Formats: sequence, C-alpha cells, structure tokens
Amino acid sequence: MGASDDLAGIVAVAASRGRLPADFAERIDARMTDADWRVLVAERTNAPGVIGWAMVGPWTGLVDAPDGRYVSALTVTPEARRSGIGGRLLGDLVVVAGGTVFSVVNARNRASLDLHRRQGFVELGRAARFAGIDFDGGSGVLLRRDQGGPA
Ligand SMILES: CC(C)(COP(=O)(O)OP(=O)(O)OC[C@H]1O[C@@H](n2cnc3c(N)ncnc32)[C@H](O)[C@@H]1OP(=O)(O)O)[C@@H](O)C(=O)NCCC(=O)NCCS
Repeated sequence: MGASDDLAGIVAVAASRGRLPADFAERIDARMTDADWRVLVAERTNAPGVIGWAMVGPWTGLVDAPDGRYVSALTVTPEARRSGIGGRLLGDLVVVAGGTVFSVVNARNRASLDLHRRQGFVELGRAARFAGIDFDGGSGVLLRRDQGGPA
C-alpha cells in the first residue's frame, strides 16, 4: 500500500472513535513526512487495509505535564480488537521512538492502561487534566516508559 492508501485507512480507523476535525487528514499527512514524528499502521496479513494506527512525536510547551515524546491516537478498528494488534502497535512505537516516551490515558480506559503497563509504561500521576486534555469522567493517567524499561 502507498502512503495515500495508508492515509485513507488511518482516517477510516480514526473515524471509528467519533467525528474528526475537518483538517484531520491534512494534519496526519504532514506528520507522516515530518522527521520528528513516527506514524505506524497495522494491516492484516491476508488482505489490504489499515486496521490500526498510532503515532509518537514531540509535545512541547506543556504546563501540566513534562515536555517529551508522547504516544497518541492508538486505535484498533473495533472488529479487530482483542487479538494483540494494539499491543504490537504500542510495542513497535516505543522501539521506533527510542528513549523515553510518555502517554496520557483516561483513567476509565482499562484496555489502554493494561496495554501500556504490559509495554513497560509506569504511572507518574493522575489528574483531571494533562497536556491540555480534560478527561471524560474527571481523571487521566500520565505514564512514562524509559528505554531499557521492562518490555
Ligand atoms: C485500546 C486498544 C488500542 C487496544 O487494542 P487491542 O488490539 O484490542 O489490544 P490487544 O489485543 O493488543 O490487547 C492487549 C491487552 O490489553 C488489554 N485489553 C485490551 N482490550 C481490553 C478490554 N476491552 N478490556 C480490558 N482489557 C483489555 C488486555 O490486557 C489485553 O490482553 P488479553 O487480550 O491477553 O487479555 C483498542 O481497544 C482501541 O482502539 N480502543 C479505542 C481507542 C482507545 O481507547 N485508544 C487508547 C487511547 S489512550
């Protein structure tokens, strides 16, 4: 698949989480060619099409969390969940990122928290707002994984 097929697939998977901003595809397209960012997609082995995606890149100028590289957008299309794809995507992301990586997750999102812990992320704290994100339900978790941490 080419980059434009990947972009269309990413948009479809991302849309499974709700309405996207009008400039979403344009923003992701820019990140796909930005050397500071890594955008990964998961595909089925036996059929074309994106079934998951995630990215990692710098978040700076934060007042309520450390500056650093953050995981974002980790999503597996609903029909393909619970078969190890999210875990592999997150594992590959921390490898391509190298070094320390942060992530923020809604405290209610058991699936994502489990996944992060399995990939060696440790909890740094909980708050109603991290990195400018206000969490549904009122609590989010800030996580960090250091290079060489438990995999
Ligand atoms: C979170 C998400 C990416 C997980 O993807 P996935 O491909 O289903 O994850 P995996 O199959 O690799 O799951 C690995 C482990 O995570 C945990 N997990 C995954 N889904 C879970 C769920 N619904 N409930 C509880 N634990 C879950 C389990 O420990 C699981 O291992 P197991 O299946 O052996 O029990 C997926 O559910 C998703 O896209 N959710 C919506 C978007 C989202 O919340 N993204 C995270 C934002 S921070």
